[in-house]
Amino acid sequence: MAKGRDSGMPPVELWETFFDPEGIFDALGCLSLRGDAVELGCGYGTFTIPMAARVSGTVYALDIDPIMVSATAARACNASVPNIVVEQRDFVTAGSGRPAGSAGLVMLFNILHIEDPVSLLREAHRILRDGGTAAVIHWRHDIDTPRGPPLDIRPSAEQCRAWAEKAALRWRSGPHLPNSPWHWGMLLDKVPTPLRQSEGKDARALNVPPAPRSSILQFPRMRLRP
Ligand SMILES: C[S@@+](CC[C@H](N)C(=O)[O-])C[C@H]1O[C@@H](n2cnc3c(N)ncnc32)[C@H](O)[C@@H]1O
Repeated sequence: MAKGRDSGMPPVELWETFFDPEGIFDALGCLSLRGDAVELGCGYGTFTIPMAARVSGTVYALDIDPIMVSATAARACNASVPNIVVEQRDFVTAGSGRPAGSAGLVMLFNILHIEDPVSLLREAHRILRDGGTAAVIHWRHDIDTPRGPPLDIRPSAEQCRAWAEKAALRWRSGPHLPNSPWHWGMLLDKVPTPLRQSEGKDARALNVPPAPRSSILQFPRMRLRP
């Protein structure tokens, strides 16, 4: 078991006073998402359940801690949310297990203080499709906060951006998160790899359709599973 450092959770009643998940998703522009989302470290499902209403596909919620996995699964079941798959998994030693290029969104919420954040961001990059988005939130370290990892391991937004760029993710924005005063948020894009000219020719010769444009955060059209 290789739980990331300082990843223990207080009781759910306390944890969920710290943020406004719906407000965070609204601020991040995650209003409606075509395809699947993956959550690396789902905890109590604080963000899993609200995200499930915003995706047309499935939310894959991964956590190493069986108590967190049961809590999230029980919540999904009680709320009769069908499009959540919860898996007990150590994503540090075993990866996410999701296929390459399969996700429109990867959520990395309160997790990038782990020992090797760049490897986790690389895993996010691997499973995102071209044009897909990684969303990050974390505790601020410029103010006193009621919880959060010790300051010496708590990354700033600038630090996370630099790590993300090492993992080939491109910073898009860092919106203010209303009603979540102790957190900052960030969106990172997986930029499609441009075809080399010769590859482009081959693709045209084979009549391969061009890669779809970014289809991840489609604000006006909401297509949810019935
Ligand atoms: C601080 S909590 C954040 C939970 C959730 N993202 C949230 O913000 O409400 C971090 C979570 O990551 C999980 N975690 C830590 N290391 C992990 C690992 N190696 N593999 C899978 N989950 C891990 C912990 O069990 C914990 O539930």
